[in-house]
Amino acid sequence: VQFDIMASTSRAFAANHGPLDAAQAGAVAAALNGLNAEQLTWVSGYLAGLAARQTGAAGAPASAADEQPSPAPAAAALASAQRMTVLYGSQTGNGRAIAEELAEQARSRGFEVVLGGMADYRVSALQREHNLLVVVSTHGEGEPPDDAESLHAFLASRRAPRLDQLHYSVLALGDSSYEHFCQTGRDFDQRLAALGATRLHALVECDVDYDDPAAQWSQGVLDEMEQRLGALRASQPAAPVRPSVQLRAVDTAQRHGKTHPFPAPVLACQPITGRGSGWPVHHVELLLEGSGMDYLPGDALGVLPHNPPPLVDAVLAVLGAAGDEPVPRGKEGRTGTLHEALSRELEITVLTRKFVEQYAQATGSAALIERLASDDRSAFNAWLGERQIIDVLREHPGEVEPVRVAGMLRTLTPRLYSIASSPLANPDEVHLTVAKVHYQAFGYEHYGAASTYLTHTVGEGDQVPVYVQPNERFRLPADGDVPIIMVGPGTGVAPFRAFVEHRRETGASGRNWLFFGGRHFDTDFLYQLEWLRYLKQGTLARLDVAFSRDQSEKCYVQHRMQERSRELFTWLEDGAHVYVCGDASRMAGDVHQALLGIIAREGGYSGEQAGEYLQDMKRIGRYQRDVY
Ligand SMILES: Cc1cc2nc3c(=O)[nH]c(=O)nc-3n(C[C@H](O)[C@H](O)[C@H](O)COP(=O)(O)OP(=O)(O)OC[C@H]3O[C@@H](n4cnc5c(N)ncnc54)[C@H](O)[C@@H]3O)c2cc1C
Ligand SMILES: Cc1cc2nc3c(=O)[nH]c(=O)nc-3n(C[C@H](O)[C@H](O)[C@H](O)COP(=O)(O)O)c2cc1C
Repeated sequence: VQFDIMASTSRAFAANHGPLDAAQAGAVAAALNGLNAEQLTWVSGYLAGLAARQTGAAGAPASAADEQPSPAPAAAALASAQRMTVLYGSQTGNGRAIAEELAEQARSRGFEVVLGGMADYRVSALQREHNLLVVVSTHGEGEPPDDAESLHAFLASRRAPRLDQLHYSVLALGDSSYEHFCQTGRDFDQRLAALGATRLHALVECDVDYDDPAAQWSQGVLDEMEQRLGALRASQPAAPVRPSVQLRAVDTAQRHGKTHPFPAPVLACQPITGRGSGWPVHHVELLLEGSGMDYLPGDALGVLPHNPPPLVDAVLAVLGAAGDEPVPRGKEGRTGTLHEALSRELEITVLTRKFVEQYAQATGSAALIERLASDDRSAFNAWLGERQIIDVLREHPGEVEPVRVAGMLRTLTPRLYSIASSPLANPDEVHLTVAKVHYQAFGYEHYGAASTYLTHTVGEGDQVPVYVQPNERFRLPADGDVPIIMVGPGTGVAPFRAFVEHRRETGASGRNWLFFGGRHFDTDFLYQLEWLRYLKQGTLARLDVAFSRDQSEKCYVQHRMQERSRELFTWLEDGAHVYVCGDASRMAGDVHQALLGIIAREGGYSGEQAGEYLQDMKRIGRYQRDVY
């Protein structure tokens, strides 16, 4: 059994024994005891076959059906058709929530569902699967989320078996502002097909606005499975046998989520970088009292921002709109004003290819059409990354109705922030470390939506719509004695403030080592006083800092790690867990390389062995990353 199915079959059977007397029920329960899901299914088919034969012998007229092959395989096929495995590969929880919802729906339609994350999936079970529904996102630069890595690699390898028995469908999550849109979902879809599996339903690729396409896909695959099941039932007289396997309870979503956020009052918001920092960061405290939400260190907070008011005004001005134009809002057919929609519902900062395509078509802009036609994908992506929506509107004005332009914008998506507090040290509060996205380009000030909202738009007492986004893959060791090494330059330090606070509160005796980095010691040493106090008290055993621009040679956290190579390896050998948080584009890869180098050098390993060492650490949860 690949997940934690609770095989309480025999107990349930003995308690509710239908037409059997107690002694028969006891005997059957004893015979079933200890069978796994596959064995139960086989037995169920065998029993159905016996039943069908008996029915035929006792009264039914002899027919051509008697000449058919044993009904047991047919009943087993029926049992298989009503069973499915829902697998998710999810980094920030979106895919997991969709998979959980799908599992609930499938169960309510009478299917037997096994639900789980890819990290816990035993690849040896693949050949026994008949229906596999995959929900998987893409991260990094077109890479699988951490929990999908090994299954993804296995399917791509030569060890992957033929899967001719398998029916499957993939829901791919992604973000079209990335170059490799939905790459991992595409990989799963293509590999499963190449291994002989049959699509139940075509691959669906979702952008950040995934609710509707995900719901349609879920409904589509369940309809398809129901149809196949109906056809099988119609072709088989024996009543279907439903194995009485109980499934792991699906985690109920927190009461407050993306679609129902909690309005958290702002308790405090203050800059924690010095005057003159090129990269201002704020510490933000929110009150969760009365929300019923709780969290653990490692979790993130989802924030549903309002767009910066000056940017909303600028978009209206460039479109020549007054703001009171009526626009449809939500799914209920309500109408609101264009100003409201641009303020709270539509994405007006992040530029996507899809927007450029639609806008180019509407305006007929030759320059945009030419740019879109270019084969140089990376130049196009660089062009996109440097611009916001407003830059395109300014550079390529056109005669398009403002409300039509609004229709091209995607829904404003929540932004995630690593939680920087321990709930034990700060009951009912949640703290964030927010870098303000604010830069000058093309002659104008530019702002990020959520970071401006948190650090500038709202003030003390205002309410911010939030929800907790759990992250089971970024957790402190259960055992407080275990040492931890934390690598978190910039805002990557946020979860480590929560970790260290939590270890102090729980009296964990394991040693804590922090690597922090920033541009300048004077302006960018986030939470400096707290770290120095922890160091003095012994809560932090070691603190190593790298300020990249304080000397002529650039110096980053990975250089500090290399300088402490011997000691770091000793910690690893002592069982330390390693955590990395922050920049995904450069830092995470550089730190990974530094770790490989340290393991090879200090452990006397080859490059390949060092890779296996780190891979093993990852597999058992001793090397965890939360990078963005
Ligand atoms: C799991 C997770 C945890 C996170 N934790 C934190 C955290 O603890 N602290 C934190 O600050 N952030 C964190 N982030 C990042 C955060 O979610 C937002 O992405 C970030 O705050 C920017 O969002 P925004 O809405 O302000 O900007 P957006 O409105 O999303 O972006 C503005 C636009 O400007 C562009 N842009 C941005 N910067 C520049 C620039 N310098 N030059 C040119 N163009 C630019 C972008 O391409 C984008 O199109 C985390 C992300 C994840 C996924
Ligand atoms: C750091 C980071 C990198 C990402 N890289 C990609 C990418 O390369 N391609 C893509 O289509 N989506 C990318 N995304 C978007 C995610 O796939 C999208 O947010 C998805 O809904 C996340 O689902 P999950 O929460 O189940 O992981 C990225 C998101 C983050 C935070």
